[in-house]
Order: sequence, then C-alpha cells, then structure tokens
Amino acid sequence: MKLTDKDIIVLNEVDSTNNYAKQLISDKLEDATVVLAYYQNNGKGQQGNYWESEAKKNLLCSLILFPSGLEAARQFLISKVVSLALLKVLSNKVEHVSIKWPNDIYIGTKKIAGILIENTIKGSVIESTIIGVGLNINQEVFVSNAPNPISLFQLTKRYYEVQNVLNEFISSFELLWEELETGGSWDIEKCYYSNLFRRNEWSLYQKDGEEFEARIVGVGDFGQLKLENKSGEIKEFMFKEVEFVL
Ligand code: BTN
Repeated sequence: MKLTDKDIIVLNEVDSTNNYAKQLISDKLEDATVVLAYYQNNGKGQQGNYWESEAKKNLLCSLILFPSGLEAARQFLISKVVSLALLKVLSNKVEHVSIKWPNDIYIGTKKIAGILIENTIKGSVIESTIIGVGLNINQEVFVSNAPNPISLFQLTKRYYEVQNVLNEFISSFELLWEELETGGSWDIEKCYYSNLFRRNEWSLYQKDGEEFEARIVGVGDFGQLKLENKSGEIKEFMFKEVEFVL
C-alpha cells in the first residue's frame, strides 16, 4: 500500500470525511485513498458525539484501506496501528504523549486526537476500513462541551502546516501498516501497551456509577482493557463498559 499524493482527495467542506469515504466505497472505489477536509459541518466523534474543528485549523482525514486478509477478530490491531502512527508524529513535536485506551491520543491529561474507525466485514475478514482521524493542530480555543481538548498550538505557541502533518502521519502509518500486513504484530502490540496512558499506575476507574482503584495490565485481541484490582483480581472490560476517572 502506498498512499501517495495522487490518492489524496482534498475537500473544502464536507459533512464528515468518514461519510464521504463510505460513499466512495459504495461507488466501488478499489484503491487505498485518503480524504482530507478543511472543514466538516457534521464531524463525527465516538458514540454519536460531534467532533469540533474550526475551518482550516486542524487535520481532518479518513484513510480508506482494503486490508489483505486481516481477520475480523484481529480488527483492534487497526486501532493500535493508527494510535501508534499519531503517537510518533506528536512525539516529534511535544512531550508526554500517550494513548488513552482504546484510541484517544493524550498529552498529559488532555485529548489532542481522536480516531473513528468504521470497518466492513465479509465472512471472517475485513473487506474495507475507514480510519477517521481528527488531530487538533492550530485551533486556539475550543467551544464545544468536549471534556478536555488541546491543540499543538496551545502547547507550543506555534502554527503547523496541516498538509505537512498529514504527510508525516501517512509515512508513519504506512510503515506500521506494512508490518501488520506482513504478519508482524508483536512490536505493534508491545509498543501500544508500553505507551498507554496510566499503564501500571494505580488509578481510579468507574463502572455503573461506582469508582474503584485498579491498574492496567493489558489490552486483549478484541481491544478489551484488562484491569487488576487491589485484591489481585484481573477483569476485562470492553469499550464504554468502564471509564477513566480523570
Ligand atoms: C473521537 O470521538 O474521539 C473520534 C473523533 C474522530 C474525528 C475524525 S475527524 C475526521 C473523521 N471524520 C469524522 O466525521 N470523524 C473523524
């Protein structure tokens, strides 16, 4: 897979790059493609939330890929690869970057990037994947009720070319994707785990309104978070079954 310039579709405005990507796939797109937008009037976040991004300030893109024989049961590996690619790009610019399970990118306790992956599955394999990425770059103020956003500008008082950041992200992503496609997921797993927010720290989590202290001891193949409680018991949680108390 090579996502060269010719495969990048640049849009001034769209509802959501993920929706645009979905339409391309239903129009029989067959090659790996990147959709980049300067503005989304209905950007989608996780759980039906709205993704805030001022026009032309941030990276808003969707990568469309057709993995070769990636088992649906291993789909969380896609999240890991995207998270690691973003981690690489950001670690070259700022400190204290981590991956907040399952796939938010944090700087300290603030969120700088979000990922929304939409897969289609055929039989037991992934037929296509849309990897939506929102990375806050030059935005100076956030006005929505998103809990804890931050941008590169707010951290460094510098502006960045969105297109350059996209290119850096694609280069990092391609290397990791290649590793995934050639079967080598060990380094990906190891690297994802070692960059997790609050890894190995006793911290507070919340489930069904109740808080408990625990520490992260792993993330399973399906993306389930493994938490050990103070009595040494290890329990697994799927996305949204448990929340970090920040
Ligand atoms: C999250 O809630 O953390 C996920 C946010 C994902 C936002 C990106 S912006 C580009 C792509 N298009 C969308 O509509 N959403 C994703």
